[in-house]
Amino acid sequence: MSNMAIAADMAHHVHGQTNLRQHGEKGPVMITKGEGIYIWDDQGNRLIDGISGLGCTALGYSNERLITAATKQLQTLPYSPTFYNRSSLPSALLSEKLTSVAPGPLTRVLFQCSGSEANDAAIKIIWYSNIAKGEPNRRKIIGRTRGYHGNTVATVSLSGQPHMHAKFGLPLPEFKHTELPNYYRFHIDGESEEEFSARMALLFDELIQKEDPDTVAAFFAEPVQGGGGALVPPKGYWEEMQKVIRKHGILFLADEVIAGFGRTGDFWASETFGLKPDMLACAKALTSAYIPMSALMFKEEIYQSMIQNSDEVGVFGHGFTYAGHPVASAVALEALSIYEEIDIVARVKSVSPTFLDGLKAFEDHPLVGEVRGVGLFCGIELMKDKRTREPFPMETKVGERVMNAAHDRGLYMRAIGDRLQLMPPLIITKSEITDLLRIMKEALDDAWNQVK
Ligand SMILES: Cc1ncc(COP(=O)(O)O)c(C=O)c1O
Repeated sequence: MSNMAIAADMAHHVHGQTNLRQHGEKGPVMITKGEGIYIWDDQGNRLIDGISGLGCTALGYSNERLITAATKQLQTLPYSPTFYNRSSLPSALLSEKLTSVAPGPLTRVLFQCSGSEANDAAIKIIWYSNIAKGEPNRRKIIGRTRGYHGNTVATVSLSGQPHMHAKFGLPLPEFKHTELPNYYRFHIDGESEEEFSARMALLFDELIQKEDPDTVAAFFAEPVQGGGGALVPPKGYWEEMQKVIRKHGILFLADEVIAGFGRTGDFWASETFGLKPDMLACAKALTSAYIPMSALMFKEEIYQSMIQNSDEVGVFGHGFTYAGHPVASAVALEALSIYEEIDIVARVKSVSPTFLDGLKAFEDHPLVGEVRGVGLFCGIELMKDKRTREPFPMETKVGERVMNAAHDRGLYMRAIGDRLQLMPPLIITKSEITDLLRIMKEALDDAWNQVK
């Protein structure tokens, strides 16, 4: 059975973010089952899921309440659209619930099916709204180098991942990128975190000036950059960046697709970092990934300008068949109830020191340059020479070595180049974290023995 599935996958299944030639030669890693924080491969090996799937299975893999919520809704109303004024009980209630827990006055919700779609819709809405406001030239959207906002034509243009632009003829011209706030890698000797943050904000300001502030519509950013490897910004970064945002009166979207719903030790990362977004995109833990769903929340004034256009055109000319899907909405409502009942924020806060302090101790390891994290979100930067911050040559593939050694010992984690990323399910316990740390230590030792 398993061999047949592997052969089928190799012959027909096109995988994203995968080396296609290698896939054709080596085949897939088949995951067969999940329970709690664990997943099993087809060889029967149990692995701690150190990255919650893709930063999404916040409640682990066997939450009966989510399964029951989906089943009940499937039995009652398995589908209903949101076009032409139609709605369903779960999606209506979810829109109210989400706005009530939003970080700030985000009164309106547009449902989509993925993080990419939420951000893509945000770009369209910003353009739409600016046309209503009589500012049709305000179209440029600024993201960050190595930022990650999705894979649609627009959101991948906004993302700053070179491998996602290469050979696609992207990014589109309206998308610009400001610097990556990776203090550890890019600070000048003697520069404090605050000074580095001020320099990042100055570069951001200079980019806006260069592009002509009247043509810049918005800035999109992940409060903690996930796709760049769980990059927690340096001290003062968000204060300084928000000053520039306010100075130019541009819109700010907080991309909380990974960071929302407790990951950073607050319900929203915007709370952790004092952000005041005009728009917020969330997904992933919204349904604990049991079913695809995303939401874009935004301020009332943006909605009012949308009404104006909808009056003129006749409708708001945007929509997805599965947006606000009743089954996804029912699962999301249940996930939000569970987060409240088990006090997910308090839970993350109580286990986070075990996780972060345990990982921080690896800064003594010969392979590790820096460990930086928040809540249950952590990035580990591997370095050939810690003193001079000299990275390993790419071909050493040291990150991949650690990842493979961890996998062999029962931990699934991610290496983005030589930056390791950990973001386990939010329900992880202290003793499970102790196991994770033990495996990480062994994996680092193993990789060190291979490259030293
Ligand atoms: C911050 C952020 N935004 C957007 C996305 C895209 O979400 P999706 O893969 O659901 O389209 C991701 C995916 O990892 C993400 O981390």
